[in-house]
Amino acid sequence: MASTQPRATITAVERFLPERILSNKDLEKVVDTSDEWIRERTGIAERRILDGEPTSYMATKVAQGLLRRRGCHADDIDLILVATITPDMVLPATACLVQDQIGASKAWAFDLLAACSGFVYALVTGAQFISSGAHKRVMVIGADKMSAITDPHDRSTCILFGDGAGGVLLEAAEDGSGLIDFEMHADGSGRDDLHVRGGGSAYPATHESVDEGLHFIRQEGRTVFKFAVQRMAEVSLSLLQRNELTAQDLDLFVPHQANRRIIDATANRMGLASEQVMTNIEHVANTTAGTVPIALSEALDEGRLKPGNLVQLTAVGGGLTWGSALLRWGNAA
Ligand code: COA
Repeated sequence: MASTQPRATITAVERFLPERILSNKDLEKVVDTSDEWIRERTGIAERRILDGEPTSYMATKVAQGLLRRRGCHADDIDLILVATITPDMVLPATACLVQDQIGASKAWAFDLLAACSGFVYALVTGAQFISSGAHKRVMVIGADKMSAITDPHDRSTCILFGDGAGGVLLEAAEDGSGLIDFEMHADGSGRDDLHVRGGGSAYPATHESVDEGLHFIRQEGRTVFKFAVQRMAEVSLSLLQRNELTAQDLDLFVPHQANRRIIDATANRMGLASEQVMTNIEHVANTTAGTVPIALSEALDEGRLKPGNLVQLTAVGGGLTWGSALLRWGNAA
C-alpha cells in the first residue's frame, strides 16, 4: 500500500570548502610518501585545510548558503542536524553553535555521530520529522575538520583526509520527489577498525593520552577498505532490489568519497557505468560527514542532477556504520 505520508525532499544544497590547498607534493615534505603513490592508491591529488577556525565555521557557512539559496529566513527553520566527528568541543553540540550563529531562534538542534555515514544517517533522521508532519524545514549538514584529529606524521591517514562541509534543506515534497526508501546498518564489533580513542570517558584527555596520540584518528586500512567495498555494494543493491529497481535505473550514484579504488570497486560490483557515479575525491579527499553533500552540491552545479532523476546516496564509516538512501530528485536550488 502506498504511504500517505509526505516525502521529504531536498530543496537546497550547499557546500563549503576552505581556501587552503594541501597537495600531495606538500605531504611529501612531511611524511615518507609520494604524489604518485597517493594518486595511484587513493585517487587523491589534494585536500583543503581550514586554518584558525573550528568545524562550526564551515557548518555555519553551509547553513547561511542554504537559507540564501532557498530564499527563506533563519526563523523558518525547525531543526538543525549536524553530522560530525570533529565537533568544536565535547559540549555544547556544534548544531547549537550553528543555530545561534545563523539566528535560527525557533529551531532545536543536535549533533549526530556516525562518522563517514553521518550525513546519510542525518538525512534519513531529518526526513522523519518532515514525513511525520512535525516540521516544515529541517537543515541537515555534514561537516568535519579532519585536520584537527589527523596525525600529520601518520602516512596511512594524513594522505586521506581533508576539511569541508555540505548540507541540504529538507521540506515536504509537492511534486512526487523526495526520499523513497533507506537502509541503514551498524556493527559496533568493528569499533577497533576505525577510531579516535582519546578525549572521551574511556580515555579522558591527560598528558599521557596526548603523548600517545590517542586524540588522533587510527584505522586498519586494508580491513576498512574491504569492508567498505563489500558493504557499500551490498546495501545499495539490497535497497534497489526491494524497490524493484536495478543499478541501471540510477541516474546518479553518490558514494562516500573515501578512496577512488573503493568507489570504482563498488561501482564495478553494482554494474554501474562510470557516467552514473559521482566522484570528486581527487580535489576534495575524504571529508568524512562532508563527502556526500559536497559531492551532491558539485553534481548539481555540474548539471548532473535534474528533476525526476533517481539518485542513490551510499556511505560507510567508523562505528562501523553504513547505509544508503534512495531519492527522486526534485527542484533543488
Ligand atoms: N605512501 C607510501 N607508502 C605507503 C603509504 C603512503 N602514504 N601508506 C602506506 N604505505 C605503504 C605501506 O607501509 C605498505 O608498505 P609495505 O608493503 O612495505 O608494508 C604498502 O604501502 C602497502 O600498504 P597497504 O596498507 O596495503 O596499502 P593499501 O593499498 O591498502 O592503501 C590505504 C592504504 C590506507 C590508502 C587503503 O587501505 C585505504 O584507503 N583504506 C581505507 C581507508 C579509509 O577509507 N578510511 C576511512 C573510511 S570511511
